Amino acid sequence: MRTEISFAPIAGIATELLAVLAADTQTAKGSDAKPQPTLLTADAAVQAAAAGVLESGEYKGGANETVLIHSPVGLKAKRLLIVGLGKLSKATVHSVRDAAGTAVRFAKPRGIRELALALPENSSERLPAASVARAAVEGALVGDFDADTYRTERKDQSVQTLIIAAAADADHAATETAIAEGVIVGESQNLARSLVNEPGNKLTPTILGQRAAMMAQETGLGWEVHSTEKLHQLKMGAFWSVAQGSAEPPALIVLRYEPEGVNEGPVLGLVGKGITFDTGGISIKPSDNMEKMKYDMAGGAAMIGAMRAIALLKPRVRVIAIVCAAENMPSGTAQKPGDVQTAMPIAPDKPGKTIEIINTDAEGRLVLADGITYARQLGATHLIDAATLTGAISVALGKTTAGVFSNDDATYAKFEAALAVSGEKFWRLPLGDEYAELIKSDIGDIKNTGGRYGGASSAAEFLHTFAEDTPWIHLDIAGVAWVEESRPYIAKGPSGIGVRSILEWVRSF
Ligand code: BES
Ligand code: MN
Ligand code: ZN
Repeated sequence: MRTEISFAPIAGIATELLAVLAADTQTAKGSDAKPQPTLLTADAAVQAAAAGVLESGEYKGGANETVLIHSPVGLKAKRLLIVGLGKLSKATVHSVRDAAGTAVRFAKPRGIRELALALPENSSERLPAASVARAAVEGALVGDFDADTYRTERKDQSVQTLIIAAAADADHAATETAIAEGVIVGESQNLARSLVNEPGNKLTPTILGQRAAMMAQETGLGWEVHSTEKLHQLKMGAFWSVAQGSAEPPALIVLRYEPEGVNEGPVLGLVGKGITFDTGGISIKPSDNMEKMKYDMAGGAAMIGAMRAIALLKPRVRVIAIVCAAENMPSGTAQKPGDVQTAMPIAPDKPGKTIEIINTDAEGRLVLADGITYARQLGATHLIDAATLTGAISVALGKTTAGVFSNDDATYAKFEAALAVSGEKFWRLPLGDEYAELIKSDIGDIKNTGGRYGGASSAAEFLHTFAEDTPWIHLDIAGVAWVEESRPYIAKGPSGIGVRSILEWVRSF
């Protein structure tokens, strides 16, 4: 999708489809409270063309509610689409992001390849112009993605041209910057989604490494992709214990962003779970829905997507990303329940922690344990990890809100601030000694499962054992990495969760 900017009056834009936003401005309560859809544009010709449908009561301006008017009188556009934000008093930048996605997803199945999206004309505290412009572009790009990449005849072709129509009196330079940012962020989120969408046979750990390297070369990041030998050399016994069961070699992917002249200050370590397929190993999963376990590398993909955006937006802080990629398979060489593994030591003269394997399906925490230790060894002062780690997180929070854990309130506060920009939904859950108690082992230092209750917290506490006192954030995205049912603004399939929040967290340093 190509993005253009226009500051011209929207009535004069010759386009296949002009999308404008509306909101419900009803303030009365009780039985008089009929919806009152109001256009967020003052353009008189658009107002006139929409007047009939707005007065009809058929259209309420609800969130992502659409109505289409063909051959609108007085407009150069062939079609006028009205997209709702819901109640104006509750509308945010995030409602605009979704509405933009809705407009694109309206156009796609109708064969409309070009559209203009009018931004709300009046910048307000709730809807600051630059943030709105950026979010609209993000939403449009996210809406343009469909997962049917292996269909010989793809159903919904992409929208080719998006015209962002800003008010004539908008700050031109600020709008242009915001739109350029939106393109970078939206494309980076879609990169993560395209990786997550790939099936296990098309995206092995080795291929994930190649895709990350390709991205790094395109954007000027430093990169290394290691495999078995390096895991042994670094004594990554936890990571290797997962990889050992597969015929596919693991990939230890390292991406480095080192802005010129930044030689001190924090080093941010991004660690992603990159299980390209999770069968469960010897503790094999039931076959129902097992095909979904191709998305068990969504945390790793989020880091690769975030690193792309970081490389292009160039914040003044050093960042290292580590993706631990492996396939979790049952085989004659696979690890067994009861096995004891030795994790990577934090320093060559220190012993690695020993882990009793209770369940080979709790493999994400094993690869992350060594990834976290490696990030610390490479000098990370602050850590963030992302992983489709537990089914328990969906039991706790459902399929729309992801879990976040942290050992440091100040670092968490930065993440919370990042959420206000990204619009992604995360909720903080507890760590603590009570959970550490659940993963004590009789034979070694810790075991890799803590039982059914509080499963997301005991998994997080497992990772905490390796992050130790380094300020650290853990994102459990298992419940939200895959959109189970299509929504008006996003296709069914990979969500790309994490990319935007991780990026904003990094930019806050
Ligand atoms: N990859 C799964 C978690 C998962 C479940 C992701 C559903 C996406 C959707 C993870 O490796 C896993 O199997 N976790 C186990 C841990 C248990 C054995 C302690 C789980 O949650 O059941
Ligand atoms: Mn598993
Ligand atoms: Zn897994």
